[in-house]
Amino acid sequence: MSKNIAIDGPAGAGKSTIAKRCAKELGYIYVDTGAMYRAMAIHFIDRGTDVTDEDAIKAECADVKIDIQYENGEQQVILNGKNVTGRLRKEEVGKMASKTSAYRCVRTKLVELQKEIAAKENVIMDGRDIGTCVLPNADLKIYLTASAEKRAKRRYDELVAKGETPSLLELKKDIENRDYQDMHRQESPLKQADDAILVDTSDMGIEEVTKRILELFNK
Ligand code: DC
Repeated sequence: MSKNIAIDGPAGAGKSTIAKRCAKELGYIYVDTGAMYRAMAIHFIDRGTDVTDEDAIKAECADVKIDIQYENGEQQVILNGKNVTGRLRKEEVGKMASKTSAYRCVRTKLVELQKEIAAKENVIMDGRDIGTCVLPNADLKIYLTASAEKRAKRRYDELVAKGETPSLLELKKDIENRDYQDMHRQESPLKQADDAILVDTSDMGIEEVTKRILELFNK
């Protein structure tokens, strides 16, 4: 049977960086489920779907096909046969994904795909509902978090390094809004599973967090 590690937590806690590192150390596949919700969001953006209309979303869900492939260990997301990986991290896509991931039809479709992958492969999967819904029997569950200040500051530093001039206050507000939406939706809201181990990365570096998770897994 395949081995599974679930990492959940709010936006900007460092889930993907840490999960990628752990996956490399363990020789597991890293599955970024946020990327799947983002690919669905791209579909709605491209189709001009009215995202306040649940029937329109349902109709689109019936048609859309999302596949995951790996190229040199990097996850590629294929939307209706087209590789959309390059568009996933755009701000408008993240904002749309936060809205459309609240719909049950969107979640049902993607959770099914996530379960299929985890049944076949040793995976480390990150998201919001992995420990609570997707992999309730995961071998290890981590809830990775950090203060909104620290998460905003990390994002700020990333953008500054890219030559942008963001507002730290705006970034913190965005993060708090996203947390609120993800934690208060009806369908699979973000929450720590009862059997998940809380890791607060506010005052921890990437190496330290990776080491801690690997230690917990090897126990
Ligand atoms: O982790 P991320 O920023 O790439 O996720 C984009 C959005 O998708 C986020 O606002 C919440 C949603 N999401 C979700 O509802 N469930 C998951 N398992 C992963 C992401």
